[in-house]
This record gives sequence, C-alpha cells and structure tokens, in this order.
Amino acid sequence: MWLIVFFLMWPQATSSTGAQNAAGGLDFATFKSTVEPLLLEKRPGHARCVTCHSTGTAFRLQALAKGETMWSEEQSQKNFEMAKRFVLPGVPAKSRLLVMPLSHEAGGTEFHPGGKHWESQSDAEWKALANWVNGVK
Ligand code: HEC
Repeated sequence: MWLIVFFLMWPQATSSTGAQNAAGGLDFATFKSTVEPLLLEKRPGHARCVTCHSTGTAFRLQALAKGETMWSEEQSQKNFEMAKRFVLPGVPAKSRLLVMPLSHEAGGTEFHPGGKHWESQSDAEWKALANWVNGVK
C-alpha cells in the first residue's frame, strides 16, 4: 500500500527540486534584458564577445547589422538558442558561457582565447549571468 502511495507521489517530489525548476527556467526575456547587453559590452583591455563570436567560433552569436547597436528580436532568439547550448541550467560554475571568460583562480577554465573578462564570481556582471542560469528573474 505505502509503495503505491510512494509511486503516486514520486513525480511531484522529483519535479519540485531546484535543479528541475532551473532546467525549465532559462528565460528569454531575462536573456534579452540582462545577458545580451553583457555580450555586447566593451570592457577595458578586451574585445566585445560579439566581435569574436559572430564569425567562425563554435559559440556563434548573430552578427550585428551595419549601424545597429542591438540585435533584432529574431536574432536574439537565435542567440538564445545558441547560448543555451553553452549553459547547464542551474549550474553556473559548469556553464561554458560563464566559465570561459572567468579567471582560472575564480573557478574559470584555464584558458580562453578571448581573455578573462571577470575576476571573480562576485563580479556583478557574472552574478547577473549566474542568476539567469539559475532561473532567477
Ligand atoms: C578576442 C576574441 C574573443 C573574445 C573577445 C571572446 N572570445 Fe570566447 N572564444 C574565442 C575563441 C577563439 C574561442 C575558441 C574557439 C571556439 O569557440 O570555437 C572561444 C571560446 C569560447 C567559448 C567556448 C566554446 C566551446 O566550444 O565550448 C565560450 C562559451 C566563449 N568563448 C564565450 C565568450 C564570452 C561570453 C565572451 C565575452 C565575455 C567571449 N567569449 C569573448 C574568442 C573570443
């Protein structure tokens, strides 16, 4: 009897874990408002992410149209699909998008050809990305 109750309850129990929520929680609106501006931002000593990552790289962003400073809705949607492939929902520290440009000492990869844009996981920009990965709106 209790076994049956257990199996009936089981789907709810597993689907309410944080990881499961986060897996469904990569939000497009937050991506557009928070993540994309960081991919376009010019940081001292570094090229913009989009400059290198709109030609030839595996992580491939849409190229900005001539004279444009922001992606179109359709381009943003494509960027979103691309970014999702380099993110592990709920686990910022294992998300390529976040650890490639993060300093090795702070938990980032050893090397990123595009340089280390963030020195620590408490950097406000890095935290904003982590919130997106964690499904925080
Ligand atoms: C100076 C050029 C340059 C800049 C600027 C740059 N990158 Fe890169 N990045 C590369 C290259 C080259 C690679 C390795 C080749 C590839 O991804 O195909 C790479 C690799 C990556 C990867 C790993 C792709 C994989 O295959 O796992 C990610 C994710 C990434 N970069 C994200 C970023 C983000 C986010 C920024 C901005 C904060 C950024 N990069 C800025 C050149 C750059």
